[in-house]
Amino acid sequence: MKIMENKKRKITIIKNGPYIVSGNLPLAKEIIVSDENGDSVGWKKSEKYSCPEQYSLCRCGASKNKPFCDGSHVKSEFDGKETADRGIFSDQCEKIIGPGLDLDDLPELCARARFCHDQSGDVWENTERSDDPKSKQKATREASLCPAGRLVAREKNSGQAIEPELEPEIGLIEDPEKKVSGPVWVKGGIEIESADGLNYEKRNRVTLCRCGKSANKPFCNGCHIDEKFNDGDKNINY
Ligand code: FES
Repeated sequence: MKIMENKKRKITIIKNGPYIVSGNLPLAKEIIVSDENGDSVGWKKSEKYSCPEQYSLCRCGASKNKPFCDGSHVKSEFDGKETADRGIFSDQCEKIIGPGLDLDDLPELCARARFCHDQSGDVWENTERSDDPKSKQKATREASLCPAGRLVAREKNSGQAIEPELEPEIGLIEDPEKKVSGPVWVKGGIEIESADGLNYEKRNRVTLCRCGKSANKPFCNGCHIDEKFNDGDKNINY
């Protein structure tokens, strides 16, 4: 009897082990582009990996074959305990009310990609003065470029989330400005199942820890910058 392949797009977290990515999800490097001031201004897709229907991504940071798991989590006795709140984003976030735009903010999810601020004002200041169309547009852009889903801009009257259009795919963030590799960027509403079998809220964008050191696992908390994590990619100028 032919065994049916499970084509469901999904990430399954293995206890003290890797992320199992299923459903033919594309995998590519995503580079943070900075301007001359060092501010994050956009994304550039880089190396695309050729992957099977299912593959396992290192979650402990110790693999010698990053971004893939090579079993090193066993030797390094990786503690991958998931400590993040299982509640939904809208119940946990702070709601910032602006005159022309609202902003949901959950700092625990910050991946420190730094799209939320530049020389001309940060997303919070721009939300506060969002009665000015330029500031509103800027706040919307800053929130939408955040890979981690920490920041979500909302239409004033309808409360509708303003989300970027993201196809279901997996990004491996690189941050040349800080000379580090960043988290796994999960895009387009992919299901994520915890090691104990429960599903996290399905969201358009979240970032998962891949340095192994986040205090908010499975999500990234930006500590890859302090840890100087890099995945050894020779194409990146660390
Ligand atoms: S999770 Fe397996 S080597 Fe890192």
